[in-house]
Amino acid sequence: MSGNIIKHDNILQTVLKNSYWSSKGFNTRAIHAGQVRDARYGSIFTPIFMEDAFLNPNRSKSVFTDPLSQEEYIYTRYGNPTITTAEELIASLEEGEAALTFSSGMAAIAATIHTFLAKGDHVISMRELYGQTYSLIKNELPRFGIETTLLSVKEMQSIDGFIKPNTKMIYVESITNPLLRVLDLKSLAKVAHEHSVLLCVDSTFASPYNQKPLLFDADIVIHSATKYLNGHNDLIAGAVVSSKEIIKKIRDQRIKTGGSLDPLAAYLLARGLRTLGIRVERQNKNAMKLARWLEDTEYVRRVYYPGLKSHPDHGIAKRMLKGYGGVVSFEIDGGDLPASKFADSLRIAIKAPSLGGVQTLVTVPRETSHHPRTGVTKEELKLLGINEGLIRVAVGIEDISDIIDDFALSFKKALSV
Ligand SMILES: Cc1ncc(COP(=O)(O)O)c(C=O)c1O
Repeated sequence: MSGNIIKHDNILQTVLKNSYWSSKGFNTRAIHAGQVRDARYGSIFTPIFMEDAFLNPNRSKSVFTDPLSQEEYIYTRYGNPTITTAEELIASLEEGEAALTFSSGMAAIAATIHTFLAKGDHVISMRELYGQTYSLIKNELPRFGIETTLLSVKEMQSIDGFIKPNTKMIYVESITNPLLRVLDLKSLAKVAHEHSVLLCVDSTFASPYNQKPLLFDADIVIHSATKYLNGHNDLIAGAVVSSKEIIKKIRDQRIKTGGSLDPLAAYLLARGLRTLGIRVERQNKNAMKLARWLEDTEYVRRVYYPGLKSHPDHGIAKRMLKGYGGVVSFEIDGGDLPASKFADSLRIAIKAPSLGGVQTLVTVPRETSHHPRTGVTKEELKLLGINEGLIRVAVGIEDISDIIDDFALSFKKALSV
């Protein structure tokens, strides 16, 4: 095999650099990018390096001078070959210069925000955010003297008018939860850059298979890697992708605040990533079939899926997304009680939070992410359009006919008197 041979004392590692893989297709990159092949033992993928520390023969050179150097490791909180593999894979799939992984999506979000926002700064974000991100921005940032403005999706279209001299970041999610709104990232990036503001996009619901925000000029992409990137509901992780310059700054924050990923989780994440393309392709198809079936189902008042013409952002979604994603939401007749009964009656799909995995999961947002105990008020629910009877489905890769049969039976059980 051709490629760079990196000599590291007596250990010989064969590495093909990311530049080699950048011209290859998504699925090829998902399998090969970032892999370190240990020529001494013949491993075909990067092994799990569980150790906390490394015997660094070049310690005197100091790895601290080049924090992104991946040829020298000293301590796993700073970097670790298994973690590097997951990071290089994610950077390659998002078509970014570099990536960082974290112990959770929230750790990735917090580290990114704290890297770029300080006392006196202003951030513009949106109301349709994942609950904990919403709470972080709305309740925690003001404690650090950071000013926040939270806009509706509609107001985001005239974001220009909300930018102030001290605005440093626009922080958005697209696709959003649970109504699956899609933002025009290209227009947002244009406005952001006219004002020298960073555009940061949580693209968890889209996955890099369906959307690559950096190609629409966003500055930073964030993922809850717990979801599609891993895809098997068996770990918690986060990721940030950006330029090398930005990633260096966030890495410095991660080193200090300690949210690095565990090497075993990094190994599992890299393994999950290998099938990202085929999983998401299937989820796109399954979700589209389910959404169309739900539209024709008598018990359903309204379906939310960006792939449907009835969705308010269908036009934008066609420009932003390669596929419309694996999440479908709908409102069942009769309100919250039948919604809960429906989700409890399912036999194949499971009533549980999370999304992006191989199995179909169903949630009732008014019982979970938008329950009164999260602090969300009735007025906010109305403003957000989280109506009674709303159900969110994170479609898996099962045979969709089985999921549809499961749903049909549960509708009958939920709505029978
Ligand atoms: C869009 C989005 N961003 C961030 C997060 C937080 O990620 P994690 O649970 O991995 O910390 C979630 C979790 O559900 C999410 O849905």
